[in-house]
Amino acid sequence: MLFNIVAVLAAASVSLAATPQGFKPASETPLLVSFSGIDASGGKIVAKEASQAQPQLATSSRLTGTSFAVLMIDLDIPTNSPPATNTLLHWMQTGLTQSSSATLLNTTAGRSNAFALQMPGAVAAAASYFGPSPPARVPLSHRYTELLIDTSAASQESMSVLMQAAQSRQGFNAEQVLTKAGLANKIVAGNFFNVTNPGPVQNVATGNSTGGSGSARGTGTTNGPNQTTAPIRGSAVLQKTNSLLLGATVAGAALLIL
Ligand SMILES: *[C@@H]1O[C@H](CO)[C@@H](O)[C@H](O)[C@H]1NC(C)=O
Ligand SMILES: *[C@@H]1O[C@H](CO)[C@@H](O)[C@H](O)[C@H]1NC(C)=O
Ligand SMILES: *[C@@H]1O[C@H](CO)[C@@H](O)[C@H](O)[C@H]1NC(C)=O
Ligand SMILES: *[C@@H]1O[C@H](CO)[C@@H](O)[C@H](O)[C@H]1NC(C)=O
Repeated sequence: MLFNIVAVLAAASVSLAATPQGFKPASETPLLVSFSGIDASGGKIVAKEASQAQPQLATSSRLTGTSFAVLMIDLDIPTNSPPATNTLLHWMQTGLTQSSSATLLNTTAGRSNAFALQMPGAVAAAASYFGPSPPARVPLSHRYTELLIDTSAASQESMSVLMQAAQSRQGFNAEQVLTKAGLANKIVAGNFFNVTNPGPVQNVATGNSTGGSGSARGTGTTNGPNQTTAPIRGSAVLQKTNSLLLGATVAGAALLIL
């Protein structure tokens, strides 16, 4: 009996989270995220093309704070040891404010009244927005997680911890950063959406690409955050001789391509 009650409560708390299951710090208050009218809330799959400019944010109830920060983190960066993954900070913007009156939010999820979060005119992003671009590696589908933090009462030190952390996007650990900043209990809304690479998976680690052997497709250099495919090593020989380089290249490229 007690077991049943505990099990039901556990199930309820899991389904209430607006952030991905198991992600910490979690939030149960949905952050409404949309890209020019395309709803990106509640774990929905969003097209890569639709998500390349920063989204609009809102909450359905008015929050009490006067100043907010938003973080967006990819939780599913491929590594050279799948299924292990890494994280990447895609966006950090401080100085958001919330409109005091509700306005119509008209998205693919329907129409509702919501309180929009407004970007500050004068505050540059701590980490400028990188659009999602999952490469053809495992996992093909990535969870882009947003956290809204109430920074109304945050000290200068707290804000500098955030700013500092935004300098290294790869391996961004939201729980550690927010705990260090003393803001782990100031998460007022959260969300995630998925963007999926259509595949097929190109296996960087074994060099077994669909392009055949002998040709190294991809140079390991990237042309910006949009690039969709990871560098491919076409032959096992190349893979071996380049194994040292590969690690460095992939680590360097990951910052730009995911
Ligand atoms: C909502 O958006 C749809 C699609 O863009 C549009 O056809 C409709 O007129 C909009 N409704 C309102 C009330 O703005
Ligand atoms: C979102 O991505 C995660 C991580 O790859 C995956 O486990 C989950 O199934 C995806 N969700 C959808 C709806 O595709
Ligand atoms: C390489 O790819 C071929 C064709 O897709 C597949 O049959 C083979 O098992 C792969 N080998 C390795 C080592 O992954
Ligand atoms: C990235 O995408 C944007 C918008 O789609 C485009 O304007 C820009 O040229 C692309 N950058 C690169 C390096 O491909």
